[in-house]
Amino acid sequence: MGTKQSVAITGAASGIGLATARLLHDRGWQVWLLDLQPEALSSACRALELPATRGLVCDVSSKGGVNLMTLVNAVAPGPIDTPLTRKVHTQNVRKQWSHRVPMERYGTSEEVASAIAFLISDEASYVNGQILALDGGFVTAGLAV
Ligand SMILES: NC(=O)c1ccc[n+]([C@@H]2O[C@H](COP(=O)([O-])OP(=O)(O)OC[C@H]3O[C@@H](n4cnc5c(N)ncnc54)[C@H](O)[C@@H]3O)[C@@H](O)[C@H]2O)c1
Repeated sequence: MGTKQSVAITGAASGIGLATARLLHDRGWQVWLLDLQPEALSSACRALELPATRGLVCDVSSKGGVNLMTLVNAVAPGPIDTPLTRKVHTQNVRKQWSHRVPMERYGTSEEVASAIAFLISDEASYVNGQILALDGGFVTAGLAV
């Protein structure tokens, strides 16, 4: 695992996926960007100075999207400041989340991307079957409903 390999990033045209693609690309991974939205995908490839062929338009929830995996880890984000939450969280909702999360703020896409970069790194080679909460302490504090 010393040599950086290819990594396919789902939902890579926006938010957490885009931040992850940027970080891993900067760290030397050969990134492939997967997303439903062709135009956003083209913009993401341009932003990362990648050829358009690195962007694959696909629905990753389709049957057969994921077949064989030996290491399976996941991140479970709390409230993260992304285009999604900017669109669906009202000012009131944002205030409530910021109040309830022990760290009193939303996370950033970059913070989620850093944790993903750790999970796929050599340093995490014996981490398997884990779900890493990235939520400013929300679940650990017993605040999840
Ligand atoms: N932002 C948060 O607070 C938060 C919290 C918990 C979980 N999540 C989850 O994390 C993921 C990313 O969230 P985000 O805030 O970065 O969202 P976002 O809307 O900014 O980006 C999501 C991207 O995924 C793409 N996408 C959606 N369905 C797809 C599919 N079936 N196949 C391929 N691409 C698809 C979209 O086109 C979009 O580009 C989502 O699944 C979201 O539900 C987000």
